[in-house]
Amino acid sequence: MKKAIIIGATSGIGQEVAKIFLQKGWRIGVAGRRQSALDTFKTIAPDQIETEAFDITKEDAPEKLQCLINKVGGMDIFLLSSGIGYQNPTLNPEIELSTVCTNVEGFTRMIIAAFTYFRQQGSGNLAIISSIAGTKGLGVAPAYSATKRYQNTYIDALEQLANLQKLNIYFTDIRPGFVATDLLNDGKKYPLLMKANKVGEHIVKAIINKKRVVIIDWKYAIIVFFWRMIPRRIWKCLPVKTR
Ligand SMILES: NC(=O)c1ccc[n+]([C@@H]2O[C@H](COP(=O)([O-])OP(=O)(O)OC[C@H]3O[C@@H](n4cnc5c(N)ncnc54)[C@H](OP(=O)(O)O)[C@@H]3O)[C@@H](O)[C@H]2O)c1
Repeated sequence: MKKAIIIGATSGIGQEVAKIFLQKGWRIGVAGRRQSALDTFKTIAPDQIETEAFDITKEDAPEKLQCLINKVGGMDIFLLSSGIGYQNPTLNPEIELSTVCTNVEGFTRMIIAAFTYFRQQGSGNLAIISSIAGTKGLGVAPAYSATKRYQNTYIDALEQLANLQKLNIYFTDIRPGFVATDLLNDGKKYPLLMKANKVGEHIVKAIINKKRVVIIDWKYAIIVFFWRMIPRRIWKCLPVKTR
């Protein structure tokens, strides 16, 4: 039986992805900080689901990941969905720095742990959920957009490293547009909002087909295509914001 580990599956996109792997008959290991959410999720299929509560910003997270892998009995696919994001035009330092702590420090900690596991195993699929927000610096969410760009670049670097070291590791960088989850539950209106279960379907397909970079969905792929071409002198004047 195939085995997937999903970190950040207590809610949102990660949990939708976990449900799809379950339907496919995979054995899964899920994590997040909220023990109660993990316990509730496990009741769906107690024989197929293993859980481990941990915080990716803490130093013991890699050990906890290894415990989860042991409970599941291995890992073929690793998906990191954990992340936080806020609009922060007033540059509240706590928000900016906690975003860096989770999306950069915690991210790096977990990716190193997964990469190291796959290196020892000789193969594996390593996937992340970054965002289209990494395409350009967003004035209303500086730390969020910058940390997502970091994630894109980190995976580019690891792909080259894996190639240098002749490792059979596949990388998938998933970049969704706006998805209706707790992350956007801030009372603001977001355009082209997608349903988390639909996004989950795209993600599972992309990982299984070993896609390298996926923008979800096609409408956002078109937007990002043009977005990338906007020169800096024009970008700085654009009123990019949500209502
Ligand atoms: N929603 C969107 O519009 C959107 C768009 C593009 C990309 N994304 C990305 O998609 C990913 C998932 O977000 P979502 O939209 O599904 O939001 P969500 O429902 O808030 O899910 C976030 C997940 O991350 C986990 N998490 C947060 N901090 C953590 C920590 N320190 N340690 C361990 N787990 C942690 C949360 O679990 P606990 O709270 O239990 O720890 C939760 O399971 C994020 O990386 C986000 O940046 C979202």
